[in-house]
Amino acid sequence: MTKNKKLLAWVDEMAKLCKPDSIHWCDGSQEENDRLIKVCVDNGSFKPVPKRPNSYWVISDPKDVARVEDRTFICSEKEIDAGPTNHWMAPAEMKKIMSGLYDGCMKGRTMYVIPFSMGPLGSKISHIGVELTDSIYVVVNMRIMTRMGKAVLDVLGDNGHFVPCLHSVGMPLTDGKKDVAWPCSETKYICHFPEERAIWSYGSGYGGNALLGKKCFALRIASVLARDEGWLAEHMLILGITPPKGEKKYIAAAFPSACGKTNLAMLTPSIPGWKIETVGDDIAWMKFGDDGRLYAINPEYGFFGVAPGTSMKTNANAMLSCESNSIFTNVAYTDDGDIWWEGMTDVPPAHLIDWNGNDWTPDSGRKSSHPNSRFTAPAKQCPVIDASWEDPKGVPISAFLFGGRRESFTPLINESYDWNHGVYMGSACASETTAAAAGAVGTLRHDPFAMLPFCGYHMGDYFKHWISIGKKSSADKLPKIFFVNWFRKNEKGKFMWPGYGDNIRALKWVIERVNGTGKFVETPIGRLPAEGELDTDGLSISADDLKKLFTVDKEQGLKEVAEMREYYKKFGDRLPAELTAELDKIEERLKK
Ligand code: GTP
Ligand code: SPV
Ligand code: MN
Repeated sequence: MTKNKKLLAWVDEMAKLCKPDSIHWCDGSQEENDRLIKVCVDNGSFKPVPKRPNSYWVISDPKDVARVEDRTFICSEKEIDAGPTNHWMAPAEMKKIMSGLYDGCMKGRTMYVIPFSMGPLGSKISHIGVELTDSIYVVVNMRIMTRMGKAVLDVLGDNGHFVPCLHSVGMPLTDGKKDVAWPCSETKYICHFPEERAIWSYGSGYGGNALLGKKCFALRIASVLARDEGWLAEHMLILGITPPKGEKKYIAAAFPSACGKTNLAMLTPSIPGWKIETVGDDIAWMKFGDDGRLYAINPEYGFFGVAPGTSMKTNANAMLSCESNSIFTNVAYTDDGDIWWEGMTDVPPAHLIDWNGNDWTPDSGRKSSHPNSRFTAPAKQCPVIDASWEDPKGVPISAFLFGGRRESFTPLINESYDWNHGVYMGSACASETTAAAAGAVGTLRHDPFAMLPFCGYHMGDYFKHWISIGKKSSADKLPKIFFVNWFRKNEKGKFMWPGYGDNIRALKWVIERVNGTGKFVETPIGRLPAEGELDTDGLSISADDLKKLFTVDKEQGLKEVAEMREYYKKFGDRLPAELTAELDKIEERLKK
């Protein structure tokens, strides 16, 4: 165990509050994992997937299937510091409410203590957290998603610092109450105390609500640390890209939830000779090296990937990553002991058990898997995991991509004129909502830097932080910034761009721009590939659609500018003047 006094005192205090029947300190061993999983298999909440060694099928409560943004709070001391894009409550008030909820919430259950490291163990960039939870599902998922257990306590030592993360599903087993397969509560709170650097989560067992190392720590709390310490914590994948006989470069890309990060991070290029390798698929932490370049690490240890749409055709490397040692949540179960989801194969199985535990056939008129169903798989099982993915120094980033789901206007790829224009592009990200968060799907909303649900402080200050990063180094060392959109549709409502492996064509142009060889045309909104510069060899797309993917409609552009001006008002005097200046320049160019 540990002699860390702060940790011991905190665990003791929280145990007194939550009143579990017992406390278990997780050592992270295989033996411990097997034992916990056996408990879940025996009580019926996990079902083995015989086709995939050491893998399990889990279905959640049908009302606990995604992040709950409405119930997510940034409890900074001052309301203004949470900014206009976050929900806020005063920390003392929130703690009072939640202490009431936590009081006795673990009765009849075990409290698991999960020491975890975000980032390679012992790396200077890494941070340690300790999650207390009453959910075995959380423990076994955290073991895949983070480096977890005794080794972390060893690194923490007697006096090391950790971020306390308290989690409860909020269903005490009092008065002989029987447990259910997926305990959770109607009342949910996902709370962050940025000054104290603490996380309190209550009522949900799902994904980003419950695996507190991920969005809560590695983005919301880490974004605050990054602002204070001059680095970046971003909702970005990290990939290595090697041209035929060329030099490998690294790219980081921010797309909103369920908008293609995992797919891009491990894509199988449709152009021969190019190679993509994966460093991370969801989160990047970046710091400047002594050479003035930004170096990125993936703080995670696994993938918590969107299942539907993932197939050997669209993302073979993700399929191969979850062939064993994986957990499948809210997908369907096949008669021959495997899992299935929409899009995995062209022809669905004749019979399945769906994500609600009911019989399913192709003509049953409903989806077999929840749209936000997920696989949890160890990153090291990815066949194209990058050799440097655990390098504590990180990998040097040559380009940033921003993007989202935009049916119209936004071209396939667009390079910013300079850093500040790139920051404008990040701030202007808007995307149609997806099933990754509870609520309506398909409505266009602003999602600056794909960080709308994940920024732990005032978004205006976050923009300022990005502007300031651009002043810390020179243009030749900073990543070039691009905006991409794989989701433009034609009049028939069909995606015009084939996407997936063909996205290498856009990445190829990025690399050519980074190397200074790619040719471009200047448009009011940025640099687009010059005619014939995008490699379309072997691409099946009509000339008309291809042209449309690169059309910049002036009138629509001016509408966007007006809309962005309105949006920026939200941030008041915390909006950096540099961004209004960029907007002025775009408007001027559009009016020319
Ligand atoms: P989070 O894990 O929620 O952060 O999502 P993500 O950004 O990693 O998204 P992911 O790669 O899992 O993709 C989400 C959905 O978009 C899946 O159903 C994919 O099949 C689909 N998708 C990914 N890339 C493309 C693409 O290039 N074109 C199209 N049309 N769909 C894509
Ligand atoms: C996202 O919603 O961006 C995810 C899934 O990556 S979750 O872990 O639930 O946040
Ligand atoms: Mn994500």
